[in-house]
Amino acid sequence: MIRHLLVTGGCGFIGSNFVRFVLRERPRWRLTNIDDLTYSGNLANLADITDDPRYRFVKADINDRPTVDALVAECEAVVHFAAESHVDRSIQDARPFIVANVLGTQSLLDAVRGAGGRRFVHVSTDEVYGSLPLDRPELRFSEGTPLHANSPYSASKAASDLLVQSYHHTFGLDALITRCSNNFGPYQFPEKVIPLFITNLAEGHKVPLYGDGLNVRDWLHVEDHCEAILAVLEGGRAGEVYNIGGDNERNNLELTHAILDIMGLGHDMITPVADRPGHDRRYAIDASKIRHELGWTPSRSSWPRALADTVAWYLEHPHWWREIKSGEYRHYYARQYTER
Ligand code: NAD
Ligand code: DAU
Repeated sequence: MIRHLLVTGGCGFIGSNFVRFVLRERPRWRLTNIDDLTYSGNLANLADITDDPRYRFVKADINDRPTVDALVAECEAVVHFAAESHVDRSIQDARPFIVANVLGTQSLLDAVRGAGGRRFVHVSTDEVYGSLPLDRPELRFSEGTPLHANSPYSASKAASDLLVQSYHHTFGLDALITRCSNNFGPYQFPEKVIPLFITNLAEGHKVPLYGDGLNVRDWLHVEDHCEAILAVLEGGRAGEVYNIGGDNERNNLELTHAILDIMGLGHDMITPVADRPGHDRRYAIDASKIRHELGWTPSRSSWPRALADTVAWYLEHPHWWREIKSGEYRHYYARQYTER
């Protein structure tokens, strides 16, 4: 039985939504959040629950073993979000991805092992499966699809997945992996396409669309992802992988037009820019395993509605993203777009 949950990376986009979700859905649990507050970690993401007596924040790196050992000893289960998460940054510099995603996961696994075992949910990504062709719409990623990571980011996630599976196989760790498609919703760092485009447009800037704009992603609202992770934590089978997806494939041009239409802006606000190197063409998830085994299904309202709500959230929270965009972010943006 879980009384105290350890979450890593709870100050990022999905982690902060998950912390809030768990405190709401499991009122008797205590929750500790370890996060090193890298560029994408933001205390403002959890400002509304900081004073909740069930919640504790610890600022530390998941590679800091003494701290991690002490925190793991106190909990019954771990949900591991902490990672470097942006593909474009991994193309600029892969090193931080290896340190956080590979070594960081190993550090946690060793801590869990040292504590005699804990349920360990590793939050991974559909990107580990590589890319699907546009002309074979019937193809989707299942849990048995071979790993074929294409970016340094996805390679680091695939490496961490393999480590998790090896610790289950060799040491009998009660470890599980989730692989989810693209998330959207509140508190997403505005380097990712949806918040980047909404906030650029809100500032009167155009939006940089990579390549021909026909790359496809399978979009899922972050709350649906949180619900799926909780279902896996409570009901998943040790050693298993669970795919999570929205059955909601959109190409980037469609997505951009939808955002422009919601904001009442013309399609001339798109600037085509050079493609991302190695850009995966299409992701699509077959989530039938988690549906059948755990009864999970996305419950958020329709895509147009959820996207409109997301646009509204960013327009209603300009302080949140203006603060981010005025800092180190400006140098990243210049490197990524202006000098492209
Ligand atoms: P994010 O970049 O918004 O958040 C990452 C968090 O991890 C930040 O709070 C950061 O401070 C923290 N962190 C990074 N390195 C750390 C370290 N060494 N020690 C402690 N904390 C550290 O990322 P996100 O989009 O919320 O993604 C969270 C997880 O979900 C990642 O593992 C990612 O691979 C996975 N995922 C993301 C998506 C998506 O669409 N965003 C989809 C599927 C899976
Ligand atoms: O599929 C899950 C993954 O989704 C997660 O594992 C990653 O952490 C998350 O960042 C996300 O990866 P993507 O690379 O798909 O997301 P991103 O928002 O960077 O890009 C989405 C699509 O939009 C992709 O085809 C590239 C395109 N794009 C992105 C940016 C930032 C643009 O056309 N212009 C842009 O400026």
